[in-house]
Amino acid sequence: MEVSKPGRNLNGKTILITGGAGFIGSNLIHYLLRQYPEIKIINLDKLTYAGNLENLEDVASDPRYEFIRGDICDQNLVQEIFPRINGVIHLAAETHVDRSILDAGQFVLTDVFGTFVLLDALRRSLHVEYFLHVSTDEVYGSRDEGYFREEDALNPSSPYAASKAGADRLAYAYYVTYGLPIIIIRPSNNYGPYQYPEKFIPLFITNALDNLPLPLYGRGTNIRDWLHVEDHCRAIDMVVKYGREGEVYNIGGNNEVPNITVAEMICDFLGKPKDLIRFVKDRPGHDRRYALDCQKIRSLGWQPQIPFEEGLRKTINWYIENEGWWRRIKEKSQAFRAFYEAYYKEREVIKEVK
Ligand code: NAD
Ligand code: TYD
Repeated sequence: MEVSKPGRNLNGKTILITGGAGFIGSNLIHYLLRQYPEIKIINLDKLTYAGNLENLEDVASDPRYEFIRGDICDQNLVQEIFPRINGVIHLAAETHVDRSILDAGQFVLTDVFGTFVLLDALRRSLHVEYFLHVSTDEVYGSRDEGYFREEDALNPSSPYAASKAGADRLAYAYYVTYGLPIIIIRPSNNYGPYQYPEKFIPLFITNALDNLPLPLYGRGTNIRDWLHVEDHCRAIDMVVKYGREGEVYNIGGNNEVPNITVAEMICDFLGKPKDLIRFVKDRPGHDRRYALDCQKIRSLGWQPQIPFEEGLRKTINWYIENEGWWRRIKEKSQAFRAFYEAYYKEREVIKEVK
């Protein structure tokens, strides 16, 4: 595919990043501030249990960065911000599949209604040059063989994925109906620094460091396509600059690994015994495999650069070097502990957690 026009400029422009205090958002803010000396970033984040300003302490006093604590569902607040910005990268969402299984309401509210609020503000602010909607590969559902292409039907399985699919298609509808400059990306599973330790890789690293059981769902044969968050940030940068309005871009790591292999690699890298791994009751509706055809973004000139083994080692080292960061969450956050106890108790690993 050809690039539609000369790249959009980020330098000298103000970007609204929603959900910037989360895992991908905080990595992206670091990346963009490094990359563009004259960028201005407004981070709108509600600071849910997953948002953490510690992730951004080092840039808090950077004059190019501004934090606004607020909810994307707050129409007045969002409409006040839009006149100040040139572009949007929309990341804010409820993101954990297991939490969506316990209680889906907040997922529908934030992921669908919150996206509507942002899109509607875009409709009223015709000066905004682009709106990058961050969807997910989970909107396609699972497939045993082959690869999803951008035009394939969406068939989400979890309340999280269904909420994201609603937002994804709402963003597309705003492009079709109002001709707004909307681009959609569908990234695969990310890993890297600052990922909240309820997610698979950081949960397993931090449990293993504490010699706690590693609760592997089912038989551990489910497959995810792991993408290092730094490669994802490069892809976002590329799509913001060169992506075409109204188009969807898959972003995969080209790196399919069964969960059991990931768990064993973590044990090996940490020198921990593999019998920490416990096969536990499966996640209901657990998607077996996600796999993306990424020709389209590759034709813009992007490809993942960080091999999984190297990325995983670096990520493990980050969690070792930033022990205080994850201990403050795992040991002090009520939101973490309440969820862990509710979800893992019936999986029979909780009694061994200190
Ligand atoms: P995260 O859970 O780490 O962070 C989400 C952030 O959004 C948090 O800072 C939270 O405080 C904020 N937030 C939540 N509700 C909000 C609201 N109503 N208003 C304002 N802020 C709110 O998530 P993440 O892993 O960084 O994911 C970011 C985006 O990327 C999400 O849209 C997610 O669906 C998508 N995505 C993530 C992955 C992945 O592997 N992490 C893969 C594909 C797509
Ligand atoms: P997760 O990080 O929750 O991402 P997603 O479900 O969005 O892909 O999980 C990644 C994989 O790891 C998924 O197949 C579920 C599995 N998993 C476990 O086996 N045990 C766990 O405790 C968690 C959190 C995940």
